[in-house]
Amino acid sequence: MATQEKQPFHWHGAIEKNITLLGVLSLLVVLVGGIVEIAPLFWIDNTIEKVKGVRPYTPLEQAGRDIYVREGCYLCHSQMIRPFRDETERYGHYSLAAESMYDHPFQWGSERTGPDLARVGGKYSDAWHVQHLTAPRSVVPESIMPNYAFLAKNELKKPDIAAEVKALSITGVPYTKEDMAKAKDDLINQANPDADNTDLLKRYPKAQARDFDGNPKKLTEMDALIAYLQVLGTFVDTESAAAQEALAKEKGR
Ligand code: HEC
Repeated sequence: MATQEKQPFHWHGAIEKNITLLGVLSLLVVLVGGIVEIAPLFWIDNTIEKVKGVRPYTPLEQAGRDIYVREGCYLCHSQMIRPFRDETERYGHYSLAAESMYDHPFQWGSERTGPDLARVGGKYSDAWHVQHLTAPRSVVPESIMPNYAFLAKNELKKPDIAAEVKALSITGVPYTKEDMAKAKDDLINQANPDADNTDLLKRYPKAQARDFDGNPKKLTEMDALIAYLQVLGTFVDTESAAAQEALAKEKGR
């Protein structure tokens, strides 16, 4: 009888034949892998690189965002432009992670019954949005978007806006103490053409202060939703962000 030659890793047989040992060792291996991947995330400040221009939403924009979520606009509209040519040519520069870093909940979405809205800000006039939201088929005859005419009739009720802004700040949105204290006034003033909004515009760069729904007498849900739609994708100067990225890539080479 030929003597059995010792195979490399012959000791492995002991592990394969003992289910308990195999279980314990498998668990150890998975644990080490998990710790190596997950633990650093708890010690680094942020996994998203900050990009110049990204700021928290004004109370009115935030209120509009809440209406967007309440009405389920995300069921038909995504807010994430992917880095493919067909998308960037249609919608503009692809979305940067930093652009939704203060979004709770984010609105990336996977369903596009309607177009992506990540950069819809400034694409149309306020009047177009009022008309389109009131009766989509009056501007786009083949549209299947529902009518949201009631938004222009509903008074914007946000008694808890200060609490909401505070709650967002706890999750990491950098609202200042002043922003929180002035949240209620900011909410009302941004859509009031007679209000002095210089202070608001200083605290929220690129915010737009005007009557959005064509009815300066009443603060409506339409005002809030359009204020939100008009800032989408406008915070970051994508031209320069693109330039920065290209430069960073060049350096890495
Ligand atoms: C049933 C699906 C559906 C829902 C829900 C929906 N939309 Fe739309 N939306 C569409 C379709 C389809 C279009 C493209 C045709 C058009 O312009 O009406 C569109 C177009 C738009 C546009 C124009 C985009 C562009 O770049 O031309 C905006 C802005 C918009 N929707 C906002 C909203 C908002 C805000 C809500 C929620 C209050 C909403 N939509 C809900 C289907 C939907």
